Amino acid sequence: MRWSQTHVPTLREDPADADAVSHRLLVRAGFIRQLMAGHYMLLPLAVRVRAKIIDVIRQEMNRIGGQELLLPAMHPAEMWRRSGRWEAMGEELFRVRDRKGADIALGMTHEEAFTTLALELRSYRDLPQVWYQFQTKFRDEPRPRSGLVRVREFTMKDSYSFDLDAAGLDRAFDLHHQAYVRSFERLGIPAIPVRASSGQMGGSASVEFACPSEAGEDLVVRCRGCGYAANVEKATSALPAAQDGPGPPAPQPFDTPGVRTIEDLAAGHQAPADRQVKTLVYVLDGQPTLVLLRGDHSLVDQKLFDATGATEVRPAHPEEIRDALGASAGSLGAVGVEDLPVVADEALRGRRDLFTGANVDDVHLRGVDVDRDIRVGRWADLREVGAGEPCPACGRPLEVLRAIEVGHIFKLGSRYAEAFGLTVLGPDGGAVMPVMGSYGIGVERAMAAVVECHHDDAGIVWPVAVAPFVVDLVALDPGDPQVAEAVVALKDRLEAAGLDVLIDDRDQRPGVKFRDAELVGFPFRVTVGARELANGRVELVRRDTGERQTMVVGAVADRVLELAGPAATSSLA
Ligand SMILES: Nc1ncnc2c1ncn2[C@@H]1O[C@H](COP(=O)(O)OP(=O)(O)O)[C@@H](O)[C@H]1O
Ligand SMILES: [Mg+2]
Ligand SMILES: [Zn+2]
Repeated sequence: MRWSQTHVPTLREDPADADAVSHRLLVRAGFIRQLMAGHYMLLPLAVRVRAKIIDVIRQEMNRIGGQELLLPAMHPAEMWRRSGRWEAMGEELFRVRDRKGADIALGMTHEEAFTTLALELRSYRDLPQVWYQFQTKFRDEPRPRSGLVRVREFTMKDSYSFDLDAAGLDRAFDLHHQAYVRSFERLGIPAIPVRASSGQMGGSASVEFACPSEAGEDLVVRCRGCGYAANVEKATSALPAAQDGPGPPAPQPFDTPGVRTIEDLAAGHQAPADRQVKTLVYVLDGQPTLVLLRGDHSLVDQKLFDATGATEVRPAHPEEIRDALGASAGSLGAVGVEDLPVVADEALRGRRDLFTGANVDDVHLRGVDVDRDIRVGRWADLREVGAGEPCPACGRPLEVLRAIEVGHIFKLGSRYAEAFGLTVLGPDGGAVMPVMGSYGIGVERAMAAVVECHHDDAGIVWPVAVAPFVVDLVALDPGDPQVAEAVVALKDRLEAAGLDVLIDDRDQRPGVKFRDAELVGFPFRVTVGARELANGRVELVRRDTGERQTMVVGAVADRVLELAGPAATSSLA
């Protein structure tokens, strides 16, 4: 292809509205343009990167026995009602109505659709199945951001496994795990598999693939010692045992005028935050509930979902708090509370001689013994792990990283099979309900993640496997017939070696061409100029190291192949 005939609108300046590096560089290097918030137009170079990403994932999915299908993006509402998700998905699910008045969902994921297809499976002999597709997903995200990282319309590779029993599901899950590790490795995304919450839709296990990046929206907890890694929504740590004294025989009220926060109480009343009980009031599926944490710990909302199974969770309004406890936030506590459910974080188990609010404005209690004084209905891990806390597996200090979730694999179990009445005939003639898994990779998000991990001050540095073109062939004097001829001959030779080549034949100064080549990020630049060509030589420059060498024309293809490795020849047709 020729640059002069390809739409690559590079910009001299950074776009003003771009926060993430990948957003800034993909816009500036002429890969994407925004149509509206959360919806991007992919320009020719981005289409090529996307195709290469899809190719890598497709190969790895085929390798584990996946079959490629393509299901519609528009779904009858009935199907989503059947799973309960027409209601549960709330505003994230785009809904439209057709001319006959029928409700239609724009697919944000395809469990319902694939389960519907699976209703035709008859016998245990039809299992296992691994079905996958590349399909556009629509999600009415509350906050689309960071360019391609969080959008409202994107391509997902989603797959669904159907197995006869739990052991089969374990196998399908492990195979996907391997396929994801290999895919991300080939794509140049340093993704870490981390334990994750299974989310509101249940399921028994889930692993996210987290790419460390400042543009990430997730926090990942990791131990460099033993490899423990978990999303902060799921992570735990080993806390040192508390050294509590026995305290008084009963809690003692004391006046705390003006005290509103954990810090106020700590500063004014010798009540260290780790000796306080923090009392939060949440409404779980309509039921006001007390949520207790150590004063210096924060609540992870997802853990509250996971621990209680509630589908709707929100902090109580001030009036609801006063109705429930007779005091305002600042003086709340659970001592003596009999009529409200109490959920407490594990870190409070067995603690004695603590401080908490007295449910009277401007009064607190000291000497609280959790087991003796508080009726805890449910113990759960609710707190957010902080950097430096000891690893739950080996005790070494944990680190906390910001990361982009690039993939997610779930064991779903039989939830959808149950909702849809999916059964097959078992070996002994009885009906068996298949167990399912679901697995997703966001294609355009993967593109953003690659850029987040591969760039420098001058622009993008594409890994060979996903580069829009592997070689940028720059004609320095495009008007010179000898140069033009040599460029075409070299292009033919490189393409015959399996490399894809863009010829920069634009009528531009060399400085502009070189700067654009760096900004766009082609792994190799070969420069053909009249002067060197007179000696039969051209220049080869590597984008990642900046290394340059002049060589005879005939040696270029082999040299590029040698430097780039096998990934260089998986070029697009
Ligand atoms: N809004 C989005 N924009 C771009 N990619 C997304 C978006 N939401 C999800 N993805 C991609 O799809 C994959 C599977 O999504 P899933 O786990 O179902 O979504 P979520 O974690 O947002 O509930 C994610 O790992 C991510 O790569
Ligand atoms: Mg996810
Ligand atoms: Zn560890």
